[in-house]
Amino acid sequence: MVIEVRYEEYAREFLEHLRKGAFLTVKGQPDNVMTIGWGTIGYMWKKPVLMVMVRPSRHTYGLLEQAGEFAVSIPLKQDLQDQILGCGKNSGRDMDKFKEFHLHKEKAQALLETPVVGNCRLHFECRILYQHRLEPEMIDEVVRDTAYNEGDYHTLYYGEILESYLFE
Ligand SMILES: Cc1cc2nc3c(=O)[nH]c(=O)nc-3n(C[C@H](O)[C@H](O)[C@H](O)COP(=O)(O)O)c2cc1C
Repeated sequence: MVIEVRYEEYAREFLEHLRKGAFLTVKGQPDNVMTIGWGTIGYMWKKPVLMVMVRPSRHTYGLLEQAGEFAVSIPLKQDLQDQILGCGKNSGRDMDKFKEFHLHKEKAQALLETPVVGNCRLHFECRILYQHRLEPEMIDEVVRDTAYNEGDYHTLYYGEILESYLFE
């Protein structure tokens, strides 16, 4: 059963679980799922917005550039640690991670072609409003040295939250 929720009411759950790992899904041939640990949720342009950060080396990056949309699925009480690690170490270039890690593909609720991870409880479906590749000279020196010593500067994708809901 799908229970629609207000994104603000689940912002804290999102932030608390994100650092342990969440799933970013994007449509493709096949659809792909990648682990994320960084992002934000907020209110911009009079819209609810979720931002994810993806390095250009990721297979997901190329798919996102085509898709214009993404979804984020967050395990709340579910133990999906093996899948979080698996989708954070392996690339969709080499395998279908949905199949490999026994993740259930569920159709989006909004008019998205991107699936969500049915094994998770909390989901956000987003349409990309704005994207921005980090500019090295604009980043704090300590952050640059710790996060970007190999370059591969993230692109930030800001998605309007079209749907936020729980699977019960
Ligand atoms: C806990 C965890 C968090 C991660 N967070 C991010 C992230 O926020 N952005 C990113 O670009 N990569 C992140 N990664 C790395 C990607 O998930 C990893 O490179 C993945 O294999 C990329 O898959 P793809 O090539 O199918 O896109 C994270 C990995 C782990 C294990």
